[in-house]
Amino acid sequence: MTIILGLESSCDETAAALVTDEGQVLAHRLATQEAQHRPYGGVVPEIAARAHAEALMPLVDAAFTEAGLTLADVDAVAATAGPGLIGGVMVGLVTGKALAHAADKPLIAVNHLEGHALSPRLADPSLAFPYMLLLVSGGHCQLLRVEGVGQYRRLATTIDDAAGEAFDKTAKMLGLGYPGGPEVEKAARLGDPKAVRLPRPLVGSGEPHFSFAGLKSAVLRARDSGRFSTEDIAAGFTAAVVDCLIDRTRLALDAGGPVTALVVAGGVAANQAVRGALSDLAAARGLPFIAPPLWLCTDNGAMIAWAGAERFRLGLIDSMDVAARPRWALDPTAEKARGAGVKA
Ligand code: KG4
Ligand code: ZN
Repeated sequence: MTIILGLESSCDETAAALVTDEGQVLAHRLATQEAQHRPYGGVVPEIAARAHAEALMPLVDAAFTEAGLTLADVDAVAATAGPGLIGGVMVGLVTGKALAHAADKPLIAVNHLEGHALSPRLADPSLAFPYMLLLVSGGHCQLLRVEGVGQYRRLATTIDDAAGEAFDKTAKMLGLGYPGGPEVEKAARLGDPKAVRLPRPLVGSGEPHFSFAGLKSAVLRARDSGRFSTEDIAAGFTAAVVDCLIDRTRLALDAGGPVTALVVAGGVAANQAVRGALSDLAAARGLPFIAPPLWLCTDNGAMIAWAGAERFRLGLIDSMDVAARPRWALDPTAEKARGAGVKA
């Protein structure tokens, strides 16, 4: 059995976890910066980097205490090396390097997206490759055919905003709190999804990508018309996002070749409407639907430790001069999606 320390610091969550290659989570610790970013309605990179630097080592210590282990007990140190806000990524990666160097352990530089992509296998070790993953978070909206560790075929990405970003911006426009996803979900439960008809960008098109910018503008127009309640707009918006996600996932399932399961990961996977619709789609296709527990869907250290464990098993370790990368595509062969502001 091997034990991996995992560090995460690419956005607004600082996290450290100890995970075994058999899928046991020995400890996981997390500090969210939500309160620090709330006054600005979004993540401020400079504030994030400083907060990661303050929070990370105490979280590492707490994880070791929780597990009753010391640095000498781990087999490797895994740290997120990108993509993400570069200041935060550097804090985590440099800390990982320092710990690995001090204890003479191998370093594993993990792609944050690979952490999300492999996390369902930590939750369910029986999940076999290849599976179809819908990765929907604040920074990413992608469909990936996960074919093996380090083998990802990107079938779709967003040509403008990520789905979580659309939730956050909608919350801001509607005067709901931050982070927006959970607030929009709460409001949507009280609204009528049919009261306001919002566009479903790219739905029905053969182009496999996502787009949410037009939907965002439509939310603004609906709000400014003064004809609809906040709850109805939130419900209409959620219904539109769900339709977009389902239509695009259906297309990827048609085009991607056989898979063992339909899997969802990323913060938006917390949304019950999204989960329910994906579960129905999987059932209609005769596929198991797998959604990791919520704490594993959003950013966390265990998914980085687990991706580290999967890589370590295959001998995939990194040198100490590996660099932090603000952009880092999981599938370097994927064509660039048209449009500006494309996320890696
Ligand atoms: O995966 P994550 O924790 O961080 C990123 O890597 O982005 O995802 C955070 C995103 C935010 O945009 C947040 O608004 C969204 O996930 N989110 C939700 C819900 N909970 C979190 N979106 C819709 N409904 C939710 N219940
Ligand atoms: Zn993430």
